[in-house]
Amino acid sequence: MQTLRVDLACSTDARGYPIHIGSGILARAELVLQHLPQMRAAIVTNTTVAPLYLDALRQALSHHGVTTVPIILPDGEVYKSWETLNLIFDALLHNRCERHTSVIALGGGVVGDLAGFAAASFLRGVPFIQLPTTLLAQVDSSVGGKTGINHALGKNMIGAFYQPRVVVADSATLDTLPDRELRAGLAEVIKYGLIRDPGFLDWIERNVDGLLARDPDALTEAIRRSCENKAAVVAADERESGVRALLNLGHTFGHAIEHALGYGTWLHGEAVAAGTVLAAELSRRLGMLDQAGVARIRALYARAGLPVAAPDVGVEKYLDLMGLDKKVADGRVRFVLLRRIGEARVHADVPADVLSGMLRECTSHA
Ligand code: NAD
Ligand code: GLY
Repeated sequence: MQTLRVDLACSTDARGYPIHIGSGILARAELVLQHLPQMRAAIVTNTTVAPLYLDALRQALSHHGVTTVPIILPDGEVYKSWETLNLIFDALLHNRCERHTSVIALGGGVVGDLAGFAAASFLRGVPFIQLPTTLLAQVDSSVGGKTGINHALGKNMIGAFYQPRVVVADSATLDTLPDRELRAGLAEVIKYGLIRDPGFLDWIERNVDGLLARDPDALTEAIRRSCENKAAVVAADERESGVRALLNLGHTFGHAIEHALGYGTWLHGEAVAAGTVLAAELSRRLGMLDQAGVARIRALYARAGLPVAAPDVGVEKYLDLMGLDKKVADGRVRFVLLRRIGEARVHADVPADVLSGMLRECTSHA
């Protein structure tokens, strides 16, 4: 097992926390135990993950005297909603959970975002723990404290920054993950290489076949290096007033794709991959990234089995949905663009004609 730390700035380290990464560590209750203020916890999971991992987790905790309340949600991005959030509050209240009862998220990014938001707001905040079981959640969403739900008008529009007390990423849980979900997780792994870690991008290019074949060493290394990158960015800018925005490379386009097609039609990672190709192409048209850089990005996503052509949902629809992006400031959409491979920046002055022209020429009928 390897352990990294998220060291949060402007604190006495009281809110910093460990990320444990290893194979078969989900049932190592001691990793969680020391972060529970009370020997009681609610485990939020879903109908797919519960039959796979819930019993083992409950038994391990019970063995150490922790009683658990399981909260099993419907599965799917479409359930990342107020209604599902309310199901969590209903269960917490029915079971008389208290301020010291921890909320444990067991699942992918949807469960983690929902459970985290519930933990942030239930009784004005209860302890929160992340046990991510998808590659995407292990490399990205379980770290950094972004929690929330979708709104009919936009993705991840309602939420809170709320950090977990510990993250336990058991790479063995990826054995049961469908191939399509594994590939979607690779989109966020590649992101770190593109925005800040070109050496990692070289490594991914050399190891993408091993990652797709679920080589355990390759997966563990990808999780470790991704979490190192994420922890460094979050430590520098917890609440996204600066550098953290760079983690959203491809997301402004990607969220618009997810929304336009209907949540769950394209997976988040798939939309991010196609969105990143659009961001790369926009960067090139603005004189930043060169053509070889765009081709390299496209080739890597294609090798990872991810979409590289964004769907044509209409330029107006893209512009409309992107106008609701969380990075909009003073009414202007701010895009994360690439100066070169390994170096990203936020750009607030993309000329409207360049953006529209790029969307017209680079999106295609599915
Ligand atoms: P997901 O949570 O929907 O999980 C994908 C699928 O895999 C689901 O059907 C799930 O039930 C299933 N699953 C989970 N673990 C499994 C396992 N071990 N074996 C078999 N099946 C398993 O999707 P995701 O890709 O994990 O997360 C995407 C979500 O995360 C999006 O809502 C996105 O907005 C969010 N996100 C949040 C952040 C953040 O910082 N909070 C970052 C990136 C993405
Ligand atoms: N996934 C983007 C962030 O955590 O900031």
